[in-house]
This record gives sequence, structure tokens and C-alpha cells, in this order.
Amino acid sequence: MKHSMFQWLLILCVTVVLTVSQASATRIDVPRLSPTRGVIREQRPEILKTGSSEEFQTFYYNQTLDHFNYRPESYTKFQQRYVMNFQYWGGPNAPILAYLGAEESIDNDLVGIGFLNYTAPRFKALQVFIEHRYYGQSIPFASREEVMKNASIRGYFSSAQAIADYAQILLHIKKEWHAQHSPVIVIGGSYGGMLASWFRLKYPHVAIGALASSAPILYFDNITLTPPGGYSSVVTKDFKEASKTCYQTIRNSWSVIDDVASQPQGLANLSQKFKTCKPLAKASELKNYLNDLYSEAAQYNQPPEYPVTVICGGIDEAANSSSGNEDDILNKIFAGVAAYEGNEPCYVNPSSNLSETEIGWEWQTCSELVIPIGTGNDTMFPPSPFDLSNFESECKRNYGVPPRPHWITSYYGGHDIKFILQRFGSNIIFSNGLRDPYSSGGVLENISKSIVAVKTKNGSHCLDILTASKTDPQWLEF
Ligand SMILES: *[C@@H]1O[C@H](CO)[C@@H](O)[C@H](O)[C@H]1NC(C)=O
Ligand SMILES: *[C@@H]1O[C@H](CO)[C@@H](O)[C@H](O)[C@H]1NC(C)=O
Ligand SMILES: *[C@@H]1O[C@H](CO)[C@@H](O)[C@H](O)[C@H]1NC(C)=O
Ligand SMILES: *[C@@H]1O[C@H](CO)[C@@H](O)[C@H](O)[C@H]1NC(C)=O
Ligand SMILES: *[C@@H]1O[C@H](CO)[C@@H](O)[C@H](O)[C@H]1NC(C)=O
Ligand SMILES: *[C@@H]1O[C@H](CO)[C@@H](O)[C@H](O)[C@H]1NC(C)=O
Ligand SMILES: *[C@@H]1O[C@H](CO)[C@@H](O)[C@H](O)[C@H]1NC(C)=O
Ligand SMILES: *[C@@H]1O[C@H](CO)[C@@H](O)[C@H](O)[C@H]1NC(C)=O
Ligand SMILES: *[C@@H]1O[C@H](CO)[C@@H](O)[C@H](O)[C@H]1NC(C)=O
Ligand SMILES: *[C@@H]1O[C@H](CO)[C@@H](O)[C@H](O)[C@H]1NC(C)=O
Repeated sequence: MKHSMFQWLLILCVTVVLTVSQASATRIDVPRLSPTRGVIREQRPEILKTGSSEEFQTFYYNQTLDHFNYRPESYTKFQQRYVMNFQYWGGPNAPILAYLGAEESIDNDLVGIGFLNYTAPRFKALQVFIEHRYYGQSIPFASREEVMKNASIRGYFSSAQAIADYAQILLHIKKEWHAQHSPVIVIGGSYGGMLASWFRLKYPHVAIGALASSAPILYFDNITLTPPGGYSSVVTKDFKEASKTCYQTIRNSWSVIDDVASQPQGLANLSQKFKTCKPLAKASELKNYLNDLYSEAAQYNQPPEYPVTVICGGIDEAANSSSGNEDDILNKIFAGVAAYEGNEPCYVNPSSNLSETEIGWEWQTCSELVIPIGTGNDTMFPPSPFDLSNFESECKRNYGVPPRPHWITSYYGGHDIKFILQRFGSNIIFSNGLRDPYSSGGVLENISKSIVAVKTKNGSHCLDILTASKTDPQWLEF
């Protein structure tokens, strides 16, 4: 489980690394969006076994670096990967199901996103998985490290370029396989789900419909009047539902950590208690780690492990020590960490390199995907409203350019979505699991006859499109 944890801590890690010499650094902490968390959980080994590479054929498309300019360098090409599965395809005119890749390599999606494979036989559909530019093997020139360091090349790393890539490849596939009249349904989860819904709105001549799973397209630019703390409110609700005592212990723990940290030897004691990989320099390192741990557990609170239940099991079942209340709370919190992470040589502050997802997603959230997640007053976390100006200056410091927090709503819309989409949109399914903290920015109400919201009470992030498991609850089967 440790590896997946690191994948999750992206923005935190990036900020710590990039601003290590700047004491005043604040973290940029936007929970990542990913259907599969970038790794297939060890708990679901059956998923890895099902994917045979013979089913999939890999192709590369000579993609245009910049779809929106006519400068000489705009014409630069790079190889973009896509993978097709013809197993069930009925040939020309039969449908195409296209999975739009998100902020990771598509390797995980081929086995992790089972939805296409289950649906394909019914419709005799062709399955296509397209990798997002700047991830996996679809990197414009040079190595990923060099590309991400180069401010000019980084500038072409945007959602608009990405969906234009998808349009080019889908048109190419239709032509190549004489499938001009095949209906295309685009499918995506999380950030990829946003791309799927936006694709349907921008490229109606390419895709006839979209399935957007766990896509928080309303978590931008104050669209929803849900306070920016919507995310942390759902995390809180999940923990409270799992166990009231667990919720209360977590809620009480933040001030205990601060209190201990402020005493002589306090940080050293905390480092020892939490078996940190490096001694803690600030209490916030531990608090951010815990915050991310609880958030990840809630976002991916799925069978068979149900991480929230695992953490709360650790917290509630920890033996009470006799040395006093504060110590008790810390022991419990640590027991929750250990229950979730498993037996590791150390926890918190790991020294690991950033993953491509961490590097890419930080840039995406610091340029256009400004998701104003903060913490409201009445959650199990300390209140901490989203601070846009702080966020902007952090991003500017890291990349030299400030984010554009209003661009997503200018380009794709989102304000008054019901009113606007009723007038011209159609054929989009927005699905959300209500235990997923990102559902607080999702479309939860039907907009029209063909733009519908599907909600599952106990669903987690993207659970509906993941590969089925024997342990899936009955309400998930179809
Ligand atoms: C797709 O479904 C078929 C039939 O159930 C199965 O044999 C195959 O392994 C599945 N492929 C993947 C990649 O899950
Ligand atoms: C892609 O571009 C490369 C280099 O310009 C060229 O060799 C190759 O034939 C092109 N592939 C396709 C499918 O057009
Ligand atoms: C960034 O990439 C461009 C295009 O390849 C190149 O001309 C430029 O020299 C690179 N800049 C740096 C600082 O490497
Ligand atoms: C959201 O609204 C608040 C209050 O009006 C404002 O301070 C903040 O800048 C807005 N956020 C964005 C991303 O526009
Ligand atoms: C730190 O640990 C030492 C030794 O166990 C103990 O005496 C001391 O009270 C602790 N200090 C804090 C602030 O917890
Ligand atoms: C720990 O103490 C609390 C409060 O005194 C009690 O309710 C709980 O059952 C105890 N837990 C264990 C595992 O002993
Ligand atoms: C991080 O990357 C550097 C340079 O590529 C490598 O030497 C080091 O072993 C890596 N560290 C870890 C923890 O993977
Ligand atoms: C949170 O509490 C603070 C201090 O009591 C108050 O100023 C602020 O308006 C509250 N915010 C919300 C969203 O209720
Ligand atoms: C939206 O409409 C569909 C059927 O048209 C229905 O199954 C679904 O429950 C509705 N969703 C909501 C959130 O009302
Ligand atoms: C959701 O989970 C709770 C337990 O956490 C259970 O009591 C309830 O029946 C579940 N609801 C559905 C619709 O499965």
C-alpha cells in the first residue's frame, strides 16, 4: 500500500521539494483525481490476471504539438499512444467505446477500467484507450523530466490540447477502419470524466455521447455554492458514518499534535511515535500526511478493503495506554495509520521521487485546473479555507506563470449548467458515488432527458467503471 500512498501525496511532495529552502512555503494541496489511484491495489490481484496483452493492439499516432497556433513549432509532431481491442467489434457501423486517458499512463487503465470490456459484447463495440499527452509514453520530445522543466514545452500541456488530440485520433481511427458512421461513446473517470463530458460538448460531430464517472466539473471558480470545503465535508461524513468514536478521535487529534509539537522534545517524540522516515521539522508535515491519508481513504473507500473502515478499526481498537489522554489519542491515530499502510519500516516523510502523475497534476492544477478545495468550519479537520491568492503565488513561484482560475468556466462553462445544457447539450451520463469527496463538485441532478445524473449512495471514486471484483456489493452488479 505504501507505493500508492506516495502517488496520492502529489501536490504536497512537489511543494516540499520545490520550496525546500523557503521557510514560508505553504503547500498546494489538491487531492489528485484518478480512477485507479495510479496503481492497481494489491488487494485486487484478480484484476491483473485478467488482462492478456494479446487482446490489445498498441498504435502510435503522429500527434500535432499545438492544435491552436500556426507558428512553425506548432507543427512539431510527437508519438501519442493508443490501444485497441477488436475482440467484440462488429466492424464498420458498430459502435466505438473510447476511454479518454487522464493523468497517468494508460497501462493501468487497460486492466483497471473494466467497464468497456463488459459493455463491448452487448454492442459489438470496438474498445479504444487513448493516452493523455505528457503522460505514459505520450511525451513530446526528450524525457519527461526535461519536458516538464521547459516552460515553452510545458505550455502545450492543457486539457484543450488533450481533447483536440482525442478528436484527431478518433477521426483517424474511423477513417483507418472504415468506421465513419460508427457512433463513438467517450468514457472517462475523474479528470478523464471531465474530459469526456467536455469532449461531448466541444466535439459533437466526433462523439455521440459521453459517460463521465466521478467528474467534478462544478468544482471550479465558485460554480457551486457548496463551500469550497465540500470535499472535506464528505470525508468527514464518511468517517462519521464508519465510526463516531473514530471521527471524534481524529477531530481531537490536531490540537494534540500542535500541543505536543510546541513543547521541547515534542517533535522528536512525535517522530518516534509515528515512526517517521525522517525526523519531523514541523507539525504540519505530520498533519498534512494524515489529512492526505484520510482523504485518500475516503475517496477510494471501496470493496473489498474499505479503507475508512480499516483506519477506524485501527483507531478504535488501539489499546488505551495509561500515560494520559494526549498520548492515548496519538497512539490511536498511529494505530489507524499502521492499519491502513500495513507493516512498514517507516511512515510519514518518505524519501521518494515524484511520480509522473505528481509532476503532471501539479502543473495542471497550477495552470488551468484550479480546484478550490479548502476545509470548512464543521469537519473533522482544522478549518482552513482555500486561499486563492496564496495558491496563485505558490504556483507562480514554482512555474513562473500564475494560474488562470476562471479559464475552465470560460472555455467549458459550468455556471448555470442546467439552464445552458438544457438548451443545447445531450447524451451525457454523469455518475457519482456519494461517498466520494469529489462528488461534492459533481453533477448530481438530471439536467434533461438525455443528460442524466446517476448517484450511488455507497459508491466511491470511479467505482462504477472499474474492473469488477468478486467482492463488489450487489448494487454495483449489472
Ligand atoms: C474481457 O472480457 C473477457 C470475457 O469476459 C475476458 O476473457 C477478458 O479477459 C477481459 N479482458 C480484460 C482486459 O479484462
Ligand atoms: C510519423 O512520423 C514519423 C517521423 O516523421 C514517420 O517516420 C512515420 O512514418 C509517421 N507515421 C505515420 C503513421 O504517419
Ligand atoms: C525548450 O524547448 C524548446 C523547443 O524544443 C527549445 O528550443 C529550448 O531551447 C528549450 N529550452 C530550454 C531552456 O531547454
Ligand atoms: C470565489 O468567491 C470568493 C468570494 O466571492 C472570492 O474571494 C474568490 O476569489 C472566488 N474564487 C475564485 C476562484 O474565483
Ligand atoms: C517526550 O518523551 C519523553 C520521554 O518519553 C517524555 O519524558 C516527555 O514528557 C515527552 N515530551 C513530550 C512533549 O511529549
Ligand atoms: C479506551 O477507553 C475508552 C474510554 O475510556 C473506552 O470507551 C474504550 O472501550 C477503551 N478501549 C479499549 C480498547 O480498551
Ligand atoms: C530518485 O531519482 C534519482 C535520480 O534519478 C535516483 O538516483 C534515486 O535513486 C531515486 N530515489 C528513489 C528513492 O527512488
Ligand atoms: C468559520 O468560523 C470563523 C470564525 O468563527 C468565521 O469567521 C467564518 O465565517 C466561519 N466560516 C464559515 C464558512 O462558516
Ligand atoms: C435521472 O433520470 C433517470 C431516468 O431518466 C433516473 O433513473 C435517475 O434516477 C434520475 N437521477 C436523479 C438524480 O434524479
Ligand atoms: C450502504 O452502506 C451501509 C453501511 O455502511 C449499509 O447499511 C447500507 O445498507 C448500504 N446502502 C446500500 C444502498 O447498499
